[in-house]
Amino acid sequence: MYRNTPRSYGAVARAFHWATALVILGNIGLGLLAHRLPMDQLALKFTLFSLHKTLGVAAFALGAARIVWALSQPRPVPLHPERRAETALAEAVHWVLYASLMLVPLTGWIEHAATEGYAPILWPLGQGLPMVPKSPELALTMAALHKTLAWVLMGAVALHVAGALKHALIDRDHVLARMVTGRAAGRDAPGGGHALPVLIALAVLGAGAGWALNVPQPQNPVASLQAQASEWQVQEGDLAFSVRQMGAPVRGGFSDWTASISFDPDSGTGAVSVSINLQSATLGTVTDQLRGPDFLDAEATPVALFEADIRPEGEGYIAEGSLSLRGETLPVALPFDLVIEDGIARMQGATVLDRRDWGMGAAYPDDGTVGFEVALEVSLTAARD
Ligand code: HEM
Ligand code: HEM
Repeated sequence: MYRNTPRSYGAVARAFHWATALVILGNIGLGLLAHRLPMDQLALKFTLFSLHKTLGVAAFALGAARIVWALSQPRPVPLHPERRAETALAEAVHWVLYASLMLVPLTGWIEHAATEGYAPILWPLGQGLPMVPKSPELALTMAALHKTLAWVLMGAVALHVAGALKHALIDRDHVLARMVTGRAAGRDAPGGGHALPVLIALAVLGAGAGWALNVPQPQNPVASLQAQASEWQVQEGDLAFSVRQMGAPVRGGFSDWTASISFDPDSGTGAVSVSINLQSATLGTVTDQLRGPDFLDAEATPVALFEADIRPEGEGYIAEGSLSLRGETLPVALPFDLVIEDGIARMQGATVLDRRDWGMGAAYPDDGTVGFEVALEVSLTAARD
C-alpha cells in the first residue's frame, strides 16, 4: 500500500510525486513572473523573488526526501517495453527531472548565498551557505546555470506532461492511473535499468550547463583608465559602496579607478584626484541596472571625478572637494585615517552620500525599496614615487 511494487506506485511515492509536481510548477510560475516584472515594481518583484526562493528551498528539501525514498523502492516496470524508443525517451525525461529537482534549486540557492542582501529567503536559515563566498562572479555564473537549467527543466516537464496526456487520451492505457490512483499495471517481468536513458539525460544536462557557462558575461565596453602621474602611487586599493535594497545592505564596488595623490606627511596637506570608470561598477545581480541611465548612467558619462584638498582633521585627515557624476558636480568630504610606515601609506576612509543629490534612482522615490544613503568605503596602500 505505502510501498512500490514492480507494477505499481505506492502511496508515498505518489504523494511525493504530486507534491513535488505542485511545488515545481508553482515555482516555475513564480520565477518567470518575478524575473519579468519591470524594475519599477521593485517592491512586488522583491516579494515574488523572496517567495520563489523560499518555495525553492522547500522544493529542494522535498526533492531530496523524494529521491531518498525512491532509492529504497522498486521502480515499476514500463508499460510498453516493446516501444523501445518511446520508453527510453520517457526514462531519459525522468532522469532529467530527478536531476533538475536537485540542480535547479541548488544553483539558485548558491546564487543567492553568493550575493548580499537582495530579496531574502523568508526564513532565517540558509541565507548563506557553507563554503559559498560572497562573490559577484560566482553569483553571475550560478544565475546563468540556474536560468538555463530551469529552462531544461521546463522543457522536460512539457515532454513529461505531454507524454502523460498521450497515454491517457490517445493510448487510453493505465500509465496516468498508476500515478494517480496507484493501480497496478504492466507485466511483472524483471526489467533491468538501461544505461541509454541515463546517458541521454546526462548529455542534455551537460549541454545546458555548457551553454550557460559559455554565454559571454557582460564585458567592459570602455578601455581601462590610464594611470595618472602621481607623487604617491597606489599599489592596491578597494573602492566599495553599500546601499540598502528592501532594507537589506548590498555591497558593490568599482574595479577600475586611478588616483593622483600629492601629500606632504609633515604638514599633513595635499591634494587628490580620483577618476572612476563607471563601466567597472558591479552590484550583485543588478549590475546592469546600476550602470544604466537610472543610476550611474555610465554610457552617457563613463567617468566620475573626485577632486579634493587634503588637510588634517581631528585624529586623522579629511579630503574635501567635489564629486562629478552624471554631469552633476557637488561637494563631498571624505574623512580618512592614514598610517605611513617605511614610505608605504595605508589609508582608509568612508563617507555617506545621498543618491538623490546626483539625481540617481528617480524611479525609486522611497527609501524602503532602494535606500537614499550610499555608504562609500575607500582603502588603499600607496608608495612614494
Ligand atoms: C501535471 C503534471 C504531471 C503529470 C500529469 C505527471 C504524470 C506522471 C506519470 C503518469 C508518471 C508515471 C510514469 C510511468 O509510470 O512510467 C510520472 C512519473 C514521474 N514524474 Fe510526473 N507528472 C507531472 C509532473 C511532474 C513534475 C513537475 C515532475 C518534476 C520533478 C515530475 C517528475 C516525475 C518523475 C521523476 C517520475 C518518475 C518516477 C519514477 O518512476 O521513479 N512529474 N509522472
Ligand atoms: C525547484 C526550484 C526552482 C525552480 C523550478 C526555479 C525556476 C526559476 C525560473 C523559471 C526562473 C526564471 C528564469 C528566466 O526567466 O529565464 C528563476 C529565476 C531565479 N531563481 Fe529560481 N527556481 C527554483 C529555485 C530557486 C531557489 C532555491 C533560489 C534561491 C534561493 C532561486 C533564485 C532565483 C533567482 C535569484 C532568479 C533570477 C535569476 C536572475 O535573473 O539573475 N530559485 N528560477
